[in-house]
This record gives sequence, C-alpha cells and structure tokens, in this order.
Amino acid sequence: MEFKGKQDKILITCALHVPDILAAEVRSMGKEVHGTRKNGVETEGTLEDCMRLNLCLRTAWRVQYRLGSFRCSSINQLYEGMKSAAAWEEIIDRQGYFSVSSFAAHPAAKNSMYVNQLCKDAIADYFKDKYGSRPDAGKEKNRTVVFVYWNDNRATVYLDTSGEPLDRRGYRQETTSAPLQETLAAACLLSTGWQGDTLLVNPMCGSGTLAVEAALMATGRVPGLLRDNFGFMHISGFDPAEYSTLRKSLQGQVRKPAARIIATDRHHPAIGAAQRNAHRAGVDELIDFKTCPFEETPVPDGPGLVIMNPPYGERLGEEEMLKPVYAGIGDFLKNSCGGKTGAVLAPHGMLAKAIRLSPKRKIPLLNGKIDCRLMVYEMYSGSRRKE
Ligand SMILES: C[S@@+](CC[C@H](N)C(=O)[O-])C[C@H]1O[C@@H](n2cnc3c(N)ncnc32)[C@H](O)[C@@H]1O
Repeated sequence: MEFKGKQDKILITCALHVPDILAAEVRSMGKEVHGTRKNGVETEGTLEDCMRLNLCLRTAWRVQYRLGSFRCSSINQLYEGMKSAAAWEEIIDRQGYFSVSSFAAHPAAKNSMYVNQLCKDAIADYFKDKYGSRPDAGKEKNRTVVFVYWNDNRATVYLDTSGEPLDRRGYRQETTSAPLQETLAAACLLSTGWQGDTLLVNPMCGSGTLAVEAALMATGRVPGLLRDNFGFMHISGFDPAEYSTLRKSLQGQVRKPAARIIATDRHHPAIGAAQRNAHRAGVDELIDFKTCPFEETPVPDGPGLVIMNPPYGERLGEEEMLKPVYAGIGDFLKNSCGGKTGAVLAPHGMLAKAIRLSPKRKIPLLNGKIDCRLMVYEMYSGSRRKE
C-alpha cells in the first residue's frame, strides 16, 4: 500500500473527556480537525501522516486509517463486506500475521469476539480463495491490526496503525498503587496549560507517571520515540528508511529543559520504582526525586505547576479517612505554593471538596472507571480558604 498515497479519514481515539485536548494536539501538528466524538478526533491524511501522529501524540490511544465502509445489517453482509473491503494482499503480507478488533453496537452482533472471528475468517478466506494460502491470525496486536466499527447498519473498516495502544509507551514497567495511565497523565498536564518551560512539582508521585510525562514535554521528546513497534510498520509498503528519517528529525528536536522537575512520595519503594521508570524513559537525570511526606516537598520560588494525584480510598469508609489528607493538600498549596498553579486529580465529590480552596477550573476526566475532576487553582500569596 502506498504510504504517501491516498488521503482518507483518520480517526484518533482517546479517553472520554479528552477529545478537546487531543484536538488541540492534532492542530498543533498542523492538521485540521474535522470533528470530535465522545472518544476521539477525526482528521484526514495518508498513512505517512499516521506514522507522525503515532509518534507525536501524547493523549491518543489509537490512530486508525479508514479503508472503507459498507452497508451492513447482518452477519452475512459483514462477512461478504469484509472480504471485499480491500485488496488485502496490498496491506497484509501473505506470510504475515494480523488481528482484528471491533466495536459492534448492532443487534446482529452477538459479541465483539464473535465479530472479530468472523472478520478474521473473511480476510483469511479472501487470501485462500485467491492464493490457496493465508497469513496467520490471532489476538496479538503487535503486527497488522484491522479495526471494525459496526453500528447503524454500517460497517467501517480501519487499519489500526498504532497496534498496541499508544498509552503503552514502554517505560512504566514498575507500578505502585493506582498508577495513572500515561495518556491520562499527559492529558492532565496539557489541560492545566503548563508549557513545559517552568518548574514542575509532583508530590505523591507514586510510580512517577506525571513527572516522566512532564519531563518528556519539557524536553520536547515525543512519546513515540520510546517505542520500537507500531501497527503501521506491519502494513505492506512500509518504508523503514522513511521512518528512520522521521525518527531522527524528531530526535533532533529534543532540547534541554528550561526548568526543574521535582517528584516526591512518602513511600520509599515508590520513589525507587519512579526512578527506574524515569531511567527507562531516558529522563531520570531531569527529575529530582525525594522520599518525604507531601507537606515536606521542596517548592522553589517562581512560577510553575504543582500537580498531585492523591489516593482515592476505594474501600468503604476510606474516603472519610482521607478527608484530612485532602484538607492538608489545600493547606500545602495555600502555604507553600504561592505564585504557582496547583492541580489535584481527585474523585468527584466529597474529597475534591475537602481541599477547601476555590478552583479556577474543574476539568472532568475519567481515571479508569472513576469520575474525577482535575481541580486547578491559581495560588497567589494570601489565597483565601473557601469557608
Ligand atoms: C494514587 S497514587 C499516585 C499514582 C501516580 N500518579 C502514578 O502514576 O503512579 C498516590 C501516592 O500517594 C502517596 N501518598 C499517600 N499519602 C501520602 C503522604 N501523606 N505524603 C506523601 N505521599 C503520599 C502514596 O504512597 C502513593 O504513591
């Protein structure tokens, strides 16, 4: 398939509430946004554009390039439609390996496993009919990945050019309690408006996701440079030399950070894990780590962002017990972080309120299944408590 060839629709998926942040990222890459959905952003481009989007986007899950769309109101139509949706040998190597994922909201779809299997069979039968042999197929997402949406009597077929979802950057091999997804950490940072050129302080850093994502942003390192495998590398026509040139040019944009990053946690093993994760991301030397309670986090003078993801207390009664901790966070921001922006990712409700400061913004975000708010505060000297 020609990578520089046909422009088609590109759907970039992301978490709920993140499309506007993702749309801003897409626009900042010089691409037009044609629309946003609940879980994604629509744009247009070539497979070569998909390559760049995969490497550069910080909040995206998957970059999907549209192959085609057909009317589909039954399982039979799905099978036939899939078989003729593309000249599959121009996409999947005959000796290669592919997998199919789907989102099916059609009454005829029993479940998505059944839909995946049927679409896999259709593509395999296309090869068997034409060549007498077929590529391997299975669940692995580390080679060619096809994605099918089936709803409203229409099936749309995409190439998932990401393969493994993009939140899997590869650096976070060690986690502590309740780690943030890498793409959510990036969404938090971007939505505060932090530009990467002022101080960043991350008390309660856990396995270090916010601090590492901040270091990547501060140095202009795109997250895709940390990965060595994407779905687009397994589409026939992929040019390794072209890809290597793109990577080199993105690597050439890496700069020295303009300001410090400080990450602390009271749990010493968490700091060890965060340091090793940062090392794998190539940013450990840019972060000052310290084991201490959040109140003792060093906060240098000057502008910057103090960002925290405190524990939520998942079991009954724990939330109540955490209220003083959130009140303490409010005190810390008020007494130690004057002149800075404060941001706390908290579950919506009692705990967010327990901070008892007036937020400038409350940004809805989903942390796993937990409905959260990123509470953003402008801390000036003498910030007043909300009584
Ligand atoms: C939800 S986790 C943070 C997860 C982190 N964002 C990540 O991606 O791994 C909360 C962290 O707060 C730390 N913590 C809890 N109470 C603390 C306190 N009083 N002072 C400092 N750290 C604390 C815990 O050790 C834990 O690592």
